[in-house]
Formats: sequence, structure tokens, C-alpha cells
Amino acid sequence: MSNVASAHQQTAAEWWRTAVIYQIYPRSFADASGDGIGDLAGITSRLDSLAALGVDAIWLSPFYVSPQHDAGYDVADFTDVDPVFGTLEDFDTMRERAHDLGLRVIVDIVPNHTSSEHVWFQHAVASAPGSPERARYIFRDGSGEGGEQPPNNWESMFGGPAWTRVHREDGEPDQWYLHLFDSSQPDLDWTNEEVRVEFDRILRFWLDRGADGFRVDVAHGLAKVPGLPDYLPEGEVDASMGGAAMDHPAWAQTGVHEIWRRWRAVVDEYPGDRILTAEAWVKPLTRMADWVRPDEMHQAFNFPYLITGWDAAALRDVIDESLTAFHGVEAPATWVLSNHDVIRHSSRLSLTVPHPQGQGIGPDSPGLPDADTAVRRGRAATQLMLALPGSAYLYQGEELGLPEVTDIPGEARQDPTWHRTEGERYGRDGCRVPIPWTADAPAYGFSPSGQSWLPQPAEWAHLARDVQEGVPESTLTFYQDALRLRREHRLAEGDLVWIEELPDGVLGFRVGGVTVYANIAGEPFDLPDGEQILASSPTTGTLPADTTVWMLR
Ligand code: GLC
Repeated sequence: MSNVASAHQQTAAEWWRTAVIYQIYPRSFADASGDGIGDLAGITSRLDSLAALGVDAIWLSPFYVSPQHDAGYDVADFTDVDPVFGTLEDFDTMRERAHDLGLRVIVDIVPNHTSSEHVWFQHAVASAPGSPERARYIFRDGSGEGGEQPPNNWESMFGGPAWTRVHREDGEPDQWYLHLFDSSQPDLDWTNEEVRVEFDRILRFWLDRGADGFRVDVAHGLAKVPGLPDYLPEGEVDASMGGAAMDHPAWAQTGVHEIWRRWRAVVDEYPGDRILTAEAWVKPLTRMADWVRPDEMHQAFNFPYLITGWDAAALRDVIDESLTAFHGVEAPATWVLSNHDVIRHSSRLSLTVPHPQGQGIGPDSPGLPDADTAVRRGRAATQLMLALPGSAYLYQGEELGLPEVTDIPGEARQDPTWHRTEGERYGRDGCRVPIPWTADAPAYGFSPSGQSWLPQPAEWAHLARDVQEGVPESTLTFYQDALRLRREHRLAEGDLVWIEELPDGVLGFRVGGVTVYANIAGEPFDLPDGEQILASSPTTGTLPADTTVWMLR
């Protein structure tokens, strides 16, 4: 034991290279106030359960002042807490409690756009074309006669045009502004030094308040090709979340890198190994690695891994590509399967018909998974991921085995994707349903009033945390064991060595002193002798499909 502890301490200087970071989606985690929307006080009251789970850090999706048109990713004031979530003092209390429990605290920062209710945007609309107020955003004259057409043909990630026209006080039509997301999320103009200076201030505000780092929203979108040319793709385009085309003039432009170097310098002014993590939907991985060069961010979410299906050959390829790309720039590989934008991985990996990211699934979607397969496959995927060298991200509720909720009634759906596409794309509400804590309490213990901003399924009582706690075969116990063993055996620090010549559909590798077998979709596989330390589902000498096992060699 002492060896394990001291090795862990040696790498503790760069904790993020091996950390497991747990994403809290504040609206849906725990509601102390009783209004049906989760809040900071709720998070504080539940932090001990995350320490007991065995994660190293938490990342909180936005809790800033916002009209909540995109669940808080539309920020009206970046340095204050929305009353729905509490106050700055509630943040301090939460951060203090987290630090006392040994959990680092990463906050979200949303630099690509503000809310249309941000004071800057209000001033921009009230000011004349060409004014310094408008120059903080991307206002342009329309095209066509009388400027009636948008300035270019770009589309919003949530559907519909990426431009909205404003009107003067006298009702006359005026310029158009760019919004890569909802019309309530105008894009900032990052060529404007005033914008850069303002974000230096915002970074410092949260660093001074003890944040251990930032998850940087849309870190591939801030630089646009000058002149904003039309996008003229060759072939069919998937414009949904994660489908951002890499030849699009709004995405993955090299101009973003000087911004990240500037941010890195700010973060490095602070003690305590604070980090920047990129949400950058960039393909291929070798290109994404530019976001984590030594003087830019520390980590980037590995979305190519996330979108890989349950397919042994494809998984092996993406794991190899990830290790090569990230290690090539001296960054840790990262791994993630679920977050607040994608179909929960237990359900997603079990769909019999693939669905593009961001489309979501509903009751009439083809190929919906069978519940037992989803649980088995979800656990097998998690156990495979947690054996990989590097840092891993978990999304709240996956440790309970929550599936994607498909039957949210249309009138209860909140995601702008659903509304902007008039129900053609279900969007992301199905992974955002408030999580169950207590089987027989109102709203399963999410809220004392029994309210919940999205309806919770009637059959979730058996997934509540309290009925899983201490139960050997529960998904919660499985996650706790996996995280403890990952740490004890230092899996995240090891080098991965593939075991060759396994049957089709089976992956095997060694990392540290542990041998990992994952039967993705093969015939039952006879396991070699050795002590099993963890299996994602029961095994009896053979490893069935949809199962991962860790063994001591
Ligand atoms: C990111 C967030 C997503 C949000 C979008 C716009 O992709 O993860 O939830 O809608 O940015 O801010």
C-alpha cells in the first residue's frame, strides 16, 4: 500500500494527467431550494457522495446569470451566480467543502458567445452599425436587395440560419448578427482586443475564487475565416452537435491558438496546478492535439473516442490514435463516454441503428436498445475506458446506470434543438433528467418539493442511489470498485500493450500489472488463468460479449 501511495503523491504535482473528473450538470444534480432546478447548495449537500465514489475532481456546467435559453450556456453575467443556482457565497461554500473532501473544482467558461441579455449585446443592439459596441459581436449588413437575406449561408448548430436580424427603435430593419448556436447566443468577435481583455478578467475572477481550472466551451469556434465566406461543402453535411465540418469557415481555425496561449499564461500565474480543458469538436485527433500543445490547454475531450461505436476494431484504432496524438504533444490522453450533449452511453452504444450526435432519441426512434443490453454494455464500456492510460471524465448519473430518457413529452422538452427544428431533432433533454437519490422520496430525493424541471421516469426508483449503496452487484458499487482499483493499480499511469491474436470482437491489453479483456461482440471467450479483480458483469471462466474483465497477470 505504501508504494501505491507514494507513487500517487509523486504524480500529484500534475494531478490532471491521471484524474477522473466528474461532470455535474447543476440543474439536474440536487435541488436544495425546492424550485425543481438543481442548485449550488444542493451540490454542496451531496459532495460527500462523490468523494465516496472516488473521483478526483468535479466540473460544473454553467451556473452563471442567464435567461436559461440554452440551459445556462447563454451567459448574461460571467462573474455572478444566477439566483436559480444561488449566490457567490454558495459557490464559495461549495468550493470549500469540495476542497475539504479532496475534490478539485473545475468551472465552465463560455467564450464563444454571450446571452442576448448580456449588457454588451443590449448596448450593441441600441448602437449604430460600425460602433465600438457592435464591434464586440459579429454584426454584418444583410445580402440581397435591402439586406433581406442573411450575410452568408451558415447554419446554427441547433438548426435554422446562424443569423438573426435586429431592428432599430423606429422598427426599421437593421443589421444581422451571427449566432452559431441559438439566436439568444450572439457570437463574440475575438479579433477585438476588448473581448480578450474582458475574458482575462473573467478567468482571474474565478481563479481568485479558488477554481482549479476551466472547461472551455466551444474551444474550436472562436476564430472565423475573415470575410465570413459562405460554406460550400462537398457532399452531405451533418450540422448537428459534433458534426461540425472541419472545412467550415467557422470551425477549428488556427486563429484560436493564440487565444489559448494567452489563457495558459493567465492560468500559469496561479499556484496549484490549475487547468484548461478544451471542448473542441475537432477531427482528426492529430489536429485536436494542437489544442493541447505544451503552451496551450492541458486537456481536450476525446470526442473521436466518444463517438466510436461498440466495435472492437474501431475502438482499438481510436485508442491507438488517441495515445499517439496526445502523447505526441506531451499531453495526457483523455477518455469520455457521456456528457450533457450526447445520448447516455449505455443507451447510445446499444442502439441497433446509429444516430448522429445531437439528434437525440425519442419514443419513435428506430433501433431503441433493450434495457438489459444497455446496462451490460454501458458497464463494459466504462470498465474498458477506466483502464486506459490518461484522464477520464464521468457524467452524473452514469454511476447509477441511468439510460437516456426517450419518452419526455414534447411540451416538457426544453432543448432549443427541439424547438428550432420543430421536433425533427429530439435534442439533449434525455440525458439531462434530474438524477434519483432516494427511491421513495419526492422526485427521488432530487428536490424536497417533488418538482423536477424535466419529468423523471416512473421506473427510476430501482436506480436511486440509496438502493444501490452497499449492494455488491449494483452499478454504483461497480463504479466505486473500478475507481478504487484504477487508482490502486495505477492504471492511468501505465503504458498500454495490446495482446495480439485474440478472437474477433475481443480486445485485450496489459497496463501496469493488470490484464484487460473486453469482449465487445465476440463469441464467449475462455479466459486465461489469473485472479479476476473486477468484471463488468458476472463471468464464469468465459467472458461473454458485452463484458470487460481486469485480471492480475
Ligand atoms: C457546448 C455545450 C452545449 C452548448 C453549446 C453552446 O457545446 O456543451 O451544451 O449548447 O456549447 O454553448
